[in-house]
Amino acid sequence: MCHLRLLAGAAGGQGPAFDRRVAAAGATCAAPAAWPAAPTVRHAGAGTSGGKAWTVKPHHIRHVLLSADQIHDRVQTLVGELAADCRGADVVLVGILRGSFIFLADLVRELYRRDVHPRIDFMTLESYGAGTESSGTVRVAKDIGMEITGCDVVVVDDILDTGRTLSFARQHLLARGARTVRTCALLDKPMRRVAPFQADYIGFTIADRFVVGYGLDYDSRYRELPHIACVTFPDLAATQ
Ligand code: IMP
Ligand code: MG
Repeated sequence: MCHLRLLAGAAGGQGPAFDRRVAAAGATCAAPAAWPAAPTVRHAGAGTSGGKAWTVKPHHIRHVLLSADQIHDRVQTLVGELAADCRGADVVLVGILRGSFIFLADLVRELYRRDVHPRIDFMTLESYGAGTESSGTVRVAKDIGMEITGCDVVVVDDILDTGRTLSFARQHLLARGARTVRTCALLDKPMRRVAPFQADYIGFTIADRFVVGYGLDYDSRYRELPHIACVTFPDLAATQ
């Protein structure tokens, strides 16, 4: 049964009638029974932050795209591929914050079980605001702290979308002296690419849907979900 329920949009002043429309349009929930109920989610709105306008549209996250078990199984397989390439003394895994934090944590613990012990660092790259569309430019909000000259780096991110973030990260780390830079993303949305870019390791290829959970966020929320869910905007539900 579904434990994730949406909400009326505060922004548009919708009330119970809107709730009923959402319920009627909603997909059947397939939240994994083994996991505790996620809290009821209730937020939507608009405003400005740091001089930038933001909007969070009314939405729900009842449609589970990938269960925690599916992710777990795929991570095991992926680590089998990664392990062979991560045994060197100078291997560094660099997670892109904030979306990669759960994926990277699962990867390195599985690597440990296979007796593979890379060094680990993080960098914060930003291209998205509070919405679901990329701003088009990537910037380093916080760089790695570690010396990587001559190292073999694997950059880990939650999702490969337009390709700008991983492409930027790769160039940036090569410029910092890495010997090689490979890329790894849990999810890939190939139809969203703005320029050709292929990651070396991919967990799942998915359709062009905005997704949350397992580290991925919408407006800094839902990262804690153990599964991946689609964000559905009820007004667009007929087309999704
Ligand atoms: P790219 O630079 O367009 O490839 O986007 C990569 C970044 O955009 C990721 O690190 C995510 O933070 C964010 N992103 C792209 N698609 C999604 C999505 O469906 N859900 C949540 N975040 C996303
Ligand atoms: Mg994000």
